[in-house]
Amino acid sequence: MDPVFQWFGGKRMIANEVWKRLGKVTRYIEPFAGSAAVLLARPEFQGREVINDLDGYLVNFWRAVKADVEGVAAELVSPISELDLIARKRVFVRETETLTERLKNDPEWYDPKMAAWWFYGHSASVGNRWLRVHEMPNKFMPAMDTRSISDRISDLLAVQRRLVDVFILCGEWQRALDSEKVMFNGSDTVGIFFDPPYGAPRTTKIYADDSFAVAADVTRWCLEHGDDKRLRMVVAGYAGEHAELEEAGWTTHSWMAQGGHGNRRADRSNDNRTKETLWISPHCQKIEKQVQMNLWVAVDNDPSLSEPVDIAENHDLSVQAASCG
Ligand SMILES: C[S@@+](CC[C@H](N)C(=O)[O-])C[C@H]1O[C@@H](n2cnc3c(N)ncnc32)[C@H](O)[C@@H]1O
Repeated sequence: MDPVFQWFGGKRMIANEVWKRLGKVTRYIEPFAGSAAVLLARPEFQGREVINDLDGYLVNFWRAVKADVEGVAAELVSPISELDLIARKRVFVRETETLTERLKNDPEWYDPKMAAWWFYGHSASVGNRWLRVHEMPNKFMPAMDTRSISDRISDLLAVQRRLVDVFILCGEWQRALDSEKVMFNGSDTVGIFFDPPYGAPRTTKIYADDSFAVAADVTRWCLEHGDDKRLRMVVAGYAGEHAELEEAGWTTHSWMAQGGHGNRRADRSNDNRTKETLWISPHCQKIEKQVQMNLWVAVDNDPSLSEPVDIAENHDLSVQAASCG
């Protein structure tokens, strides 16, 4: 299943490669879930699945969809208007702390209207303006979104069914991993996909909770736990970010993210997308060495890449991350 909204740094494009390495695990943990693209792309699932993100709006959306998809859908039915986007974004800027506190204080609390407005903003506006929760832009360009509201409501119903057995946490990433009980609970094959904010310094905050120190903390955690035979771990980042893992016997898989709004430049002057890398822990599934397609050739042959492209057309925003990574 594809993610139901686009997310900065989303990993849909590479999710199948992640699952080839994790294989059939009986517990799956995604401490930096974002759009949950990797969870949703899981080919067959069993056992407990846990996702976590620090962003309260994101978690409110997941909780509301899981608990009251009709309530969310009812609020979605409205024409797309720039003034609505501005007014709703104002509410988000104002209410962020309160909403996150409520989510933390009550595991059953959620707000379907806020979830619908948040989803509507993601679907109906161009760029990262919606995602940057502390920023209040004075204009919104409508996205040329090809999916209708009723398509989107069907997406939500499908995702609600998929989430029935998923445990959703909202907090610091280590919470999903800090106890034997949460992490294993008797399971002897635990798959973990780490996708922290890119570690490269950047001047603009992208996520609501954004820090490039997190990537280094993830490296440390992985070094401490890499020898545990029960764990199959994959870490995503830019080449060089987790080099210490390679010294500890982890292998790498390089890939190139698709062109996005700011990155599909004819001169490819923004090259972070060529640095995308997966680090694969020693106890992951071994896969046959494959001849990799030369993605540069694929990009060269695509004439659309020199045109400015609306973000909503892109399947995945991972390249966007390149501009801040
Ligand atoms: C690169 S994105 C993950 C994208 C995701 N894999 C996807 O496919 O959509 C990183 C995510 O980590 C979250 N985040 C940032 N700092 C965090 C922290 N300290 N603990 C947990 N989540 C965090 C952000 O809110 C963001 O959603």
